[in-house]
Order: sequence, then C-alpha cells, then structure tokens
Amino acid sequence: MKVITTYLYLAHRSASNLTMADMQDILLSDFFSQTYDQILSCLTQMCDGNCTTGGHNNFVQSESDYTYDKEYARAEQEDAQAKVETRRDVYILSYGIGNFISCLIARYQLAFLLALRDRLGAECTACEVFDPVFTSHERSVLKTFNCVLSSQNEEGKRLCSVRTIAFLPHCGKALYNNLLWRNAASPNCDSLFNLLLIGNSFQHMVERTPSRQLQKTANFVQQLQPYIREIQVDNNFTHKDIFNDLAIHWFHPSQQGVLVSCLERNCEEPVYDNCDVEFIRSKD
Ligand SMILES: C[S@@+](CC[C@H](N)C(=O)[O-])C[C@H]1O[C@@H](n2cnc3c(N)ncnc32)[C@H](O)[C@@H]1O
Repeated sequence: MKVITTYLYLAHRSASNLTMADMQDILLSDFFSQTYDQILSCLTQMCDGNCTTGGHNNFVQSESDYTYDKEYARAEQEDAQAKVETRRDVYILSYGIGNFISCLIARYQLAFLLALRDRLGAECTACEVFDPVFTSHERSVLKTFNCVLSSQNEEGKRLCSVRTIAFLPHCGKALYNNLLWRNAASPNCDSLFNLLLIGNSFQHMVERTPSRQLQKTANFVQQLQPYIREIQVDNNFTHKDIFNDLAIHWFHPSQQGVLVSCLERNCEEPVYDNCDVEFIRSKD
C-alpha cells in the first residue's frame, strides 16, 4: 500500500499521465506477481548454478505447454526470494519503452518496470531508462521517479559488469544483438552471466526469421540462442498487446566453456545495413 501511495503522490506531483490506475493495474495483477516470481527464480539459477530443471532444451517452455504448479511455484519462489534477498544486488536497465506520456503500451511497460524496481527494494541498486525518443517532459517525469537517465545513445552496447536485469520490450533486433555482442565480447564471456534479458522471445525470433536474414540482422541472437535459457512470460495481463511475446533470457554458468569456444571464432562487432526501422543509431 505504501508503494501505491508513493505512486499517487509522485504521479500527482509530476502531473504526468502515468496514472494511479496504470500502476494499480500492474501491481494488483496476477501477471505482475507471476512474472516477478519467474524473474526471481531465474536470478537465483543464474547466480548459483543450481538449475533444477535440467538441460536448456527441457527448460524452454512455450505459453501453451507452460503448466504452473502453484504450490510448487510458491515454495520455489520463497526459496528464490530468500536466496536473492540475502545475497546480491541487481541493476535495472531499460531500452526502448517508448513515449509513455502519449502511449498506453509504453505507460504500462514503465509501470511494470517501476513496480519491479520497488518490489526488489534495496536489492535494486538503480533503475536506468533510455529511449532516444523520450521528450524532455518524459525525462523530467522519469527523474521524479528516481530513474537514472542516460543522455548517450549507446545503441544497446552496454557491458554488464554487475548483475543486470535488462528490459527491452518489443525492441528492434539490433538492440538485442548489440547487447549480446557487447557482453559476449568480454573476457571469457564473463559479463554474459550477469545479464538477465527480458525482451521478445529469441526462440520465436530464430524460429520465425529466415536464417540468412537473421545472420544479417541479429547474428549474435542466432549464434547464442542454443545456449540461452529462456522462459516465456505468460501474457495474461488484461491488455494483450503490451507484454506479448516476451521471454526471460539468461545464461547458465555451466555453458561458459562451450560459449567461449563458440565465440572465439567470431566475436566481431556487428554491422547492420539501414533496414531496421525500430533501431535508432547514435548520431556521434
Ligand atoms: C517497436 S518500438 C517498441 C515500443 C514499446 N516498447 C512497445 O512495446 O510498443 C521500439 C522502441 O525502441 C526504441 N529504440 C530504438 N533505438 C534505440 C536505441 N538505440 N536505444 C534505446 N531504444 C531505442 C524506439 O525509440 C522505440 O521506442
């Protein structure tokens, strides 16, 4: 309730369209609590290499075959929560939410992000948000919400030197690809294991995009996808076009050896032609 009251106060103060109703819709939804549980569970597996579900092929679950045993999930969640709470910090980074003052989809995505940050509490060291289309009004609203604002368009090439939840809902392939490349290019791919990426399903991207096209537009997604753990986000929010086709992706430490040898052959910085309309390049 304290969180909701804070939002009411801030939303009022910022005079934005980020309304109390949007926040409440997210906070009180099954969607948020289920997705939060999934994130915690993934973070735990990422951290201690204690994967309970076997190989990555078994781990990928589609929306249709995803059966959630509530009792089991609750026990797992409490376990995961206890482990995360007693241990490690996490940084939140978001690209590509879009114009949340004028767009309902972006507004709910931002509400989700802020709710996630608040639920993580002191474990969340900061919440950084960037989209080159943000207006100055939107930037000032984000400041009111205590978000870290980046002024530089780094084209997604962020090195995750600390454990990071990257939230990139419905972004262009190049943005995902650059984030993967930057971390794959770290010594021994170490930074890849700090990255938990919530964005469009890589499994679906690989299945639905012709291989030659993917090679040009998202070669690191293509190359790394077999080694990525992926769990589909259940799209059970009231509005079906806000969190659709999202998945949580991360790398299990047991894959490090195979990843290092796979990437030593090709870890060149990706180059794109100008076809990706959803990707805005840096002007520098
Ligand atoms: C397809 S839109 C998705 C918007 C919103 N998240 C949604 O689900 O409707 C892609 C978003 O990525 C943003 N974007 C493009 N290039 C970017 C970059 N270099 N860094 C961060 N965001 C970028 C665009 O401005 C746009 O808001």
